[in-house]
Amino acid sequence: MKRICVVGTGYVGLVSGTGLADFGNHVVCVDIDKDKIELLKKGKIPIYEPGLKEVVDRNVKAGRLRFSTDIDKAIRDSEVVFSAVGTPPGEGGEADLRAVWAVATVFAKNLDGYKVFVNKSTVPVGTGRKVYELIRELAGRDASFDVVSNPEFLREGSAVGDFLHPDRVVIGSSNPKATEIMKDVYKALYLRKTPYVETNIESAELIKYASNAFLATKITFINEIANLCDKVGADVHVVAEAMGQDGRISPKFLHPGPGYGGSCFPKDTMALVEIFKEVGIKTKVVEAVVEANEHQKALVVDRLKELIPDLKGKVIAILGLSFKPNTDDTRFSPSKVVIPLLEKEGARVQCYDPVATKDFKRDFPDLDYKKSAYDACQGADAVILMTEWNEFRGLDLEEIKKLLKSPVFLDTRNVYDPADMRERGFIYGSVGRAH
Ligand code: UGA
Repeated sequence: MKRICVVGTGYVGLVSGTGLADFGNHVVCVDIDKDKIELLKKGKIPIYEPGLKEVVDRNVKAGRLRFSTDIDKAIRDSEVVFSAVGTPPGEGGEADLRAVWAVATVFAKNLDGYKVFVNKSTVPVGTGRKVYELIRELAGRDASFDVVSNPEFLREGSAVGDFLHPDRVVIGSSNPKATEIMKDVYKALYLRKTPYVETNIESAELIKYASNAFLATKITFINEIANLCDKVGADVHVVAEAMGQDGRISPKFLHPGPGYGGSCFPKDTMALVEIFKEVGIKTKVVEAVVEANEHQKALVVDRLKELIPDLKGKVIAILGLSFKPNTDDTRFSPSKVVIPLLEKEGARVQCYDPVATKDFKRDFPDLDYKKSAYDACQGADAVILMTEWNEFRGLDLEEIKKLLKSPVFLDTRNVYDPADMRERGFIYGSVGRAH
């Protein structure tokens, strides 16, 4: 078991640090954000992530997990330092790596014996080498360290389970000594026979981008097939189910919707396009995915106009602001594209989300935020279900119909049954199930 420091207490850092402690390691999670660390010290979790608090609490109680703002000391006290800082999209779509360079710099400054620097954040191919060179330059010829790439595959909303029960652990390293240390860090998983992928740094870095871009492509593909289903009278759920029965395709990530969002797929697909450009070759596929996904978000408004042609002066209820259920994250959420387009058409929006309102307000401070789905539907000319929160799966539809001025229901996540909705008297639209 290792002494570990995790720098950055965002989704990835906090979940990884907590999970690594749960595997039996001694972990200190550090951040420059004093407020966040204060909250964590008080036992409060600064993000909405189901199940995280319980795992944090049990590891703090067991003395394996601590929080601190003293980054220098935390690094000096550790053998393995995980960098889990943000790598947001920069001006041109490439990843902004300033936070990673900052962690590498403070790592170099506190290098008082052999340590492993682990890149947990999603970073462009080649970053590991550059981090190595930077640390070497700052710490000197005699400094003893290795840089490892150990990408994370957790999903927001189910991050704890994904971390504790991963499909595989990817370790990209150029020194067997560092690889062995990483295997020790993940020993609990090794004992459970979780596959380890031991490879070089570049492959590990690319595995993450290739996986996310592939999943984004899969979603975009089924979205386009759903759009076609609408035109030809096919049912996308039957099509996707039968496609998924082919083991080579698999039924997962074949659910159509209003386009993917979140902090990962949009950022990583754009960054991958830039990585291709940088080495002087082109990716037509990933570029097309990025473009098609933006189109899919905008299509929500076209779908609504098929149900009510003129949106001028109409009141539209929006149910769901987060990019998917079980998260308060609204980054690249389809609602962020749809709401301004509705307003451009002259509509007024009343919206509701069970958890993500605070995050959404940062970009849209002046929207009409309601306290429940029913409040949002009150007096509206149509309702659009944007995120498949469980709460929206069990709506009292008779009540909703009474509250709406006209019973128009656009279900962008295909939560409800079209025949049943029509029988109930709704003018119902969904994605890829026209008939
Ligand atoms: C994604 C990946 O799934 C993780 O493996 C990866 O570690 C993570 O990015 C990351 O890079 O950190 P996440 O963005 O949290 O995780 O969420 P997903 O559950 O993958 O959903 C992404 C988007 O795709 C959501 O907007 C969701 O609504 C949409 N989606 C997903 C669909 O429209 N259809 C589907 O069938 C599945």
